[in-house]
Amino acid sequence: MYHNPVLLAESVAGLSIKENGVYVDVTFGGGGHSNEILKQLGVNGKLFAFDQDVEALENSIEDERFTLINENFRYLKQFLKFYGIRKVDGILGDFGVSSHQFDKAERGFSTRFDADLDMRMNTKSKLSAYDVVNDYDHDSLKKVLFQYGELRNADAMSNVIISARAAEPIKTTMRLKEVLKRFLPQRKEHKIIAQVYQAIRIEVNQELIAIEELLSQSVELLHVGGRLSLISYHSLEDRLVKNFIRAGKFVGEAEKDFYGNVEVPYKKVGKLVVPSREEIVTNNRARSAKLRIAERI
Ligand SMILES: C[S@@+](CC[C@H](N)C(=O)[O-])C[C@H]1O[C@@H](n2cnc3c(N)ncnc32)[C@H](O)[C@@H]1O
Repeated sequence: MYHNPVLLAESVAGLSIKENGVYVDVTFGGGGHSNEILKQLGVNGKLFAFDQDVEALENSIEDERFTLINENFRYLKQFLKFYGIRKVDGILGDFGVSSHQFDKAERGFSTRFDADLDMRMNTKSKLSAYDVVNDYDHDSLKKVLFQYGELRNADAMSNVIISARAAEPIKTTMRLKEVLKRFLPQRKEHKIIAQVYQAIRIEVNQELIAIEELLSQSVELLHVGGRLSLISYHSLEDRLVKNFIRAGKFVGEAEKDFYGNVEVPYKKVGKLVVPSREEIVTNNRARSAKLRIAERI
C-alpha cells in the first residue's frame, strides 16, 4: 500500500465540506484524503491536490472534479491562479513524508536501510542530503542539527562530520551513522539518529519554510468561513500551525488595532485532535500526528 491515511475521518470532517465548494489537498501522497473529500463533494465541487513527488502522480484520480498539480505547495496561490482559482473553501495538509517514500530504501529517508544520502521529496530539486552533509560549513550544519533536530550536541556532531568528510565524502546513510557513532549510546541510538535524519530532511526539503508560506497564503485564499485542517508530525511543524492559528503569525502575540481589539485571521475549531489508540495500533505512523482545525474569520 502506498500510504495508509492518518486521521482520515477527523481531518476531512474538519473541512466541513460544502457541496459545491472548492478544496485543496496540499499533500496528495496516496490520495487517501483526496478520495474521501471527493466522496463528500457534490457534482459541481472541485478538488485541487498538490504533491512535489512525481511518484505520487501514479495515484492520480480519474474524476472531472479533480486536478493534481506536481508542485510544491509553497507555490499554492500561484498555481491555483493558473487554474483561475482565487478563493477556496478549505485547505487540508498532511505534512511530512509518505510511507511509500519512507519504505523505498533508495530514497534515503529511513534509518532502516543503507542508501545514498538523498531525502529529496522532489527528485528534481538540486539540494540533497549528500550536499548538506558534505558541503555545508560548520555553522550551517550546526544550525540545521540544532534547530531542526533539536540536538544539544550539534556543535560537536558538526565537527565530527567535517573531519570525517575531509578524509572521504560521506556518501551513504550507514556511513553517516558510523561517523556519528560516538553520539549514539545504545539505548538512545534510534532516537538520536532519527533526530539527525529529521534535521537533514527538513533542510533538504525546506519543510518549515514551505509550511510558513502555505499558512501565510491561506489567509488570502480562504473565503470567510473557509477551513484549514492540518496534520503535523513533530513539534516544529505543530508550533508553526498552532501559533499561526492563535496569533496570525509564527512568533509573538497577535496584533491589536487602534482600540486594542485583537486582529487575527482565524478562530480555532475544537481542540487539538490526536489519533485513537486503535488507529495507532493499526498504523504506527499515526503515533505522533496532531490535527488542528481553524476557520477563516
Ligand atoms: C504524509 S504524505 C500524505 C499522504 C496522503 N494524505 C494520503 O493519505 O495518502 C505527505 C505527502 O506530501 C508531499 N509533500 C510534503 N511536503 C510537500 C510540499 N511542500 N509540497 C508538495 N508536496 C509535499 C510528500 O511528497 C508526500 O507525498
